[in-house]
Amino acid sequence: MQPFSQTHLLHLKNFKTELARFSAVYKFALDEMTTKINILKEEFQYIHDYNPIEHTNSRLKAPESILKKVLRKDLDFSLEAIRENIKDIAGIRVTCPFISDIYTLSSMLERQKDIEVIEKKDYIRNPKPNGYQSLHLIVKVPVFLSDREERVYVEVQIRTIAMDFWASLEHKIYYKYDKGIPERLSGELKAAADSAAELDRKMENIHKEVKELKNQDSLNLELLNEGDPDSILHSIFERYGLNIKGLPE
Ligand code: GTP
Ligand code: MG
Repeated sequence: MQPFSQTHLLHLKNFKTELARFSAVYKFALDEMTTKINILKEEFQYIHDYNPIEHTNSRLKAPESILKKVLRKDLDFSLEAIRENIKDIAGIRVTCPFISDIYTLSSMLERQKDIEVIEKKDYIRNPKPNGYQSLHLIVKVPVFLSDREERVYVEVQIRTIAMDFWASLEHKIYYKYDKGIPERLSGELKAAADSAAELDRKMENIHKEVKELKNQDSLNLELLNEGDPDSILHSIFERYGLNIKGLPE
């Protein structure tokens, strides 16, 4: 092997630094998104005494998987091409208790000023043919570095426990099996996804009904505690956000 020239070594050293910076930026973007989600989770717990997030997992795409995607998408072997075309190097998966929590969480994230939503795929309203369900967001978040700001792609997958159960097992079953799947089996898999979706709907309905019962209970309790009809009216108007003008003070 030819010995490396000084210029060659310098190039190599610069490339190494560039590569380290490249992957660090994705870790920072993940940290930032994780913090945002944790803030929402804690705030919800404080204010509403309810937790719309079961758990959060994050991962950085392995270099081999990035390379595979470069080949699959026929991209240039450059950091620039990877940065612009592979949008799931930083990935976060959030598992929520109920379907409604998914949309609540997603719109809370979408409303944040520093989050730019690049793409939204609703595989809950439009499941994949195999039955896969989740809400996917591709967002860009700013990462502030010592000498510059970078806007970094992060993929956020939001799903219920039932959707996660199906997707995790489907992935385990078919991982590294790239041959055609017999129709009978794909039909069964789809049926399993439909059962998971049905379970989600049932749990959501129970959740809604119990919430109404709880509200009714606390309303009854307030009515019992406050004998004066005026203050009862006030509290009812306030509870439902009605205009209380015209009511006696
Ligand atoms: P990729 O190029 O593979 O990232 O797919 P895409 O660009 O078509 O994006 P899509 O939103 O469809 O999928 C992105 C990610 O969602 C995948 O990397 C998986 O983590 C997950 N996903 C999508 N489809 C399935 C599926 O059928 N089964 C499972 N288990 N996960 C899926
Ligand atoms: Mg992917």
